Amino acid sequence: MMAEKSLHEMFSFTLDMEKENVVIPVCEDAAVEEAFREEYSFLSGKGIFTGKSGEVYSTLGAERKGVLIFIGLGKEKSVNLEKIRKAGFRAAQELASNKVAAACMRISKLSGLCYKETTKAWVEGMLQSAYSFDKYLAKKKDNPKLQMSFLIKEGKEDKVRSAISETMNLMDAVFLARDLVNEPAISLTPRTLAEVAGKELTPFGVEVEVLGRSAAADLGMEAFLAVAKGSSEEPKVIVMRYRGDAESSRLLGLVGKGVTYDSGGYSLKPKDSMVTMYDDMGGSAAVIGAMKALAANGVKRNVTAVVLATENMVNGEAYKPGDIIGSMAGKSIEILSTDAEGRLTLADALHYIITREKVDEVVDIATLTGACVVALGEQMSGAFASDDELMQRVRKAAEKAAEPTWQLPLNEEYRELVKGTRSDLKNSGGRWGGAISAAAFLREFTGDTPWVHLDIAGTAYLTSGKGYLPKGATGTGVKTLYNLALEAVEPGCGCGDRN
Ligand code: BES
Ligand code: MN
Ligand code: ZN
Repeated sequence: MMAEKSLHEMFSFTLDMEKENVVIPVCEDAAVEEAFREEYSFLSGKGIFTGKSGEVYSTLGAERKGVLIFIGLGKEKSVNLEKIRKAGFRAAQELASNKVAAACMRISKLSGLCYKETTKAWVEGMLQSAYSFDKYLAKKKDNPKLQMSFLIKEGKEDKVRSAISETMNLMDAVFLARDLVNEPAISLTPRTLAEVAGKELTPFGVEVEVLGRSAAADLGMEAFLAVAKGSSEEPKVIVMRYRGDAESSRLLGLVGKGVTYDSGGYSLKPKDSMVTMYDDMGGSAAVIGAMKALAANGVKRNVTAVVLATENMVNGEAYKPGDIIGSMAGKSIEILSTDAEGRLTLADALHYIITREKVDEVVDIATLTGACVVALGEQMSGAFASDDELMQRVRKAAEKAAEPTWQLPLNEEYRELVKGTRSDLKNSGGRWGGAISAAAFLREFTGDTPWVHLDIAGTAYLTSGKGYLPKGATGTGVKTLYNLALEAVEPGCGCGDRN
């Protein structure tokens, strides 16, 4: 069911020889390498290529044999990792459009940036160009193969090699998340999602446990099962346990929303809003991707992830507006909208991961509210917290991943919005502040355990491509959650080399 293409087949990176085709990154205020200086002076003199960020110029000629690609980085002091990713992306695109299969590039030390992080950013940017979701097209996009040779600083071979393989594994996991989100609901069901999690994670030593409807009922997951009632597909509880650090008892918990299709249920969505609702398991894709990246890279950390996967559908048994349902935590919930289903599945997932898996802190990630998209657009994810310290770490991890988040408030006052009258809670707080009342609902299930909630309704799936992110699934959250787990064992970049 899943994509067959492997990143490792399409891209390879070596540190050995120079190639005829050359990529030359240029800062507008720094000297260009001797060998290309004449060419560059000519171009900049004519104003054709001046090294500004975003510029790209390629030239080829019979006497030169190879292609020369200049990539602008802007002023040296302004270069950051995101600019390097974008430059890497453009370079790989330019190589592909010139039908170049092998090229070399020098990775220079830039002031203020660590060399290992710089290398990772170049590799990531180049790999970003390799994604496409074409499995249902009769004519596949011809994905060019690229063999890239990096000319690196002496003595950095080991660091660069490990940076390359770490980034390949990370991007492979991002692409897995994108494939899962792009896959239509006809083939991506709770069952196949659980199968993919098992197939992708067990080879790396992650324990994947899958429970069905009756085991979920035994656990008391009444809120989750109420959502699942309207679907003929059996709901699945997917628990993934990665133990990378035998010496530590500290356990990070991840929860991902796994609604494989959201029709809205009896509070039916308008037909146009329904078309892309196969993306409503974007949170689970992020969590599964992050687990794969952590395990593939052997990160020294213990992480447990939980996905409660179901469809939100309509049939004769489906839950109805006005119903009062239970939850694993024992709180009763009045259903004001069957379309506010995500928080019901997350309520049981959060209660389960805290009480049964005994995590010390938990981050949930979910395509939870249209209101979050209204507030922040497709540019940023909404972030909410019960714990400032965890929030800081999540936001730092997200920033490093270039998956920007914006914190929204979650004061006591918002609790009122989800307090019930006929029941303990109600599942909708109304239109105003909809992203916040959804978070306030989740807050009722996290107790004293430090918790952060990421609403990725706007960022998991783009209506049009943006920079190196494609139209459709972005895989957002994979890099953030990976960095979050990494941060605790490796503060900063770990190389101590910043100048
Ligand atoms: N899956 C949707 C949220 C969503 C909207 C994701 C747009 C991606 C793009 C969620 O289940 C939902 O329907 N939320 C409702 C909540 C409301 C009924 C309180 C919404 O946002 O309208
Ligand atoms: Mn919904
Ligand atoms: Zn939903």
